[in-house]
Amino acid sequence: MKIVGKFPDIRLRRVRNSAWIRRLVSENNLSINDLILPIFVRDGKGKIESIKSMPGVYRYSIDKLNVIMNKAKKNKIPMVALFPYTPKNKKDKYGTEALNENNLICKSLRFIKKKYSRIGVMCDVALDPYTSHGHDGIIVNQKIDNDKTIKILVKQALLQAKMGCDVIAPSDMMDGRVGVIRKALDKRNFQNVCILSYAAKYASSFYGPFRDAVGSKINLKSDKKTYQMDFRNSNEALREIALDIKEGADIVMVKPGLPYLDIIKKIKDNFKIPVFAYQVSGEYSMIKNGIKNKLINEDAILESLISIKRAGASAIISYFALDIANKIRKN
Ligand code: PBG
Repeated sequence: MKIVGKFPDIRLRRVRNSAWIRRLVSENNLSINDLILPIFVRDGKGKIESIKSMPGVYRYSIDKLNVIMNKAKKNKIPMVALFPYTPKNKKDKYGTEALNENNLICKSLRFIKKKYSRIGVMCDVALDPYTSHGHDGIIVNQKIDNDKTIKILVKQALLQAKMGCDVIAPSDMMDGRVGVIRKALDKRNFQNVCILSYAAKYASSFYGPFRDAVGSKINLKSDKKTYQMDFRNSNEALREIALDIKEGADIVMVKPGLPYLDIIKKIKDNFKIPVFAYQVSGEYSMIKNGIKNKLINEDAILESLISIKRAGASAIISYFALDIANKIRKN
């Protein structure tokens, strides 16, 4: 880009001088249409339980889901993402509970799709909330077995589709899973179910509070580096994305958000496909605690979300979704 003109003829501050002109020249904005709200579900009755590592975020028993879903509806949130806090006695080596028609996700899907049919629902496809070892796949000879895991993931995806899930989101990072899931969905007349692939998902320390929220933290004894991406890489993310698009992904996701803005931008520049970003639990808790301890002010929330939009994301999964939507609506 060539710089035209020079000071004092040019004064860039002229377009920053008042709020009204800053509004007119703003290049990026956040709207409610950009927000996806994650929701944690748990068993039991009458429970709205706080999560220690994520102040302001709660786990809801199914009979209380209406509390948060009503807020989502009132704020016109386009889609929610469901995550289960599976009771310990329902976890095993194979994540069998993932395929139970009456697990927390299936029950929540039935409830939400019946009562809130105009709100989209996305569900993770991965075994970590259900395995006793906390990994996203099953272990054979001390290794996460790619091909055996995919066979279970396909069944998990089909079950979710059958229960009314609109957007299937494989977050497991096994190779080849998008293709087999797409084929299986089409074969059973689920052509209209979307696949949102967590295509560039990094092995990140920023997932800590989430693992606490779904109760997989205490179980997980090792890291996920043999399947999630190495944070030193970016070209590899493009390969992941290209493959997933070829296999049938409708939307691709980058995760975490803020530390990976370059990846979002690169994907946006290289592929003309909707890119979503996940502002993950660690990002949320850092900002939230920063605000609580008066180290930063509340505007940091909007700043972080707009940075992600500026990088090229069309939507963002964020634990701030309700707060921000509420603010946007009242503005
Ligand atoms: C599980 C999954 C994780 C997150 C979403 N789905 C954690 C992980 O891979 O260990 C993280 C979300 C967050 O930190 O907010 N496959």
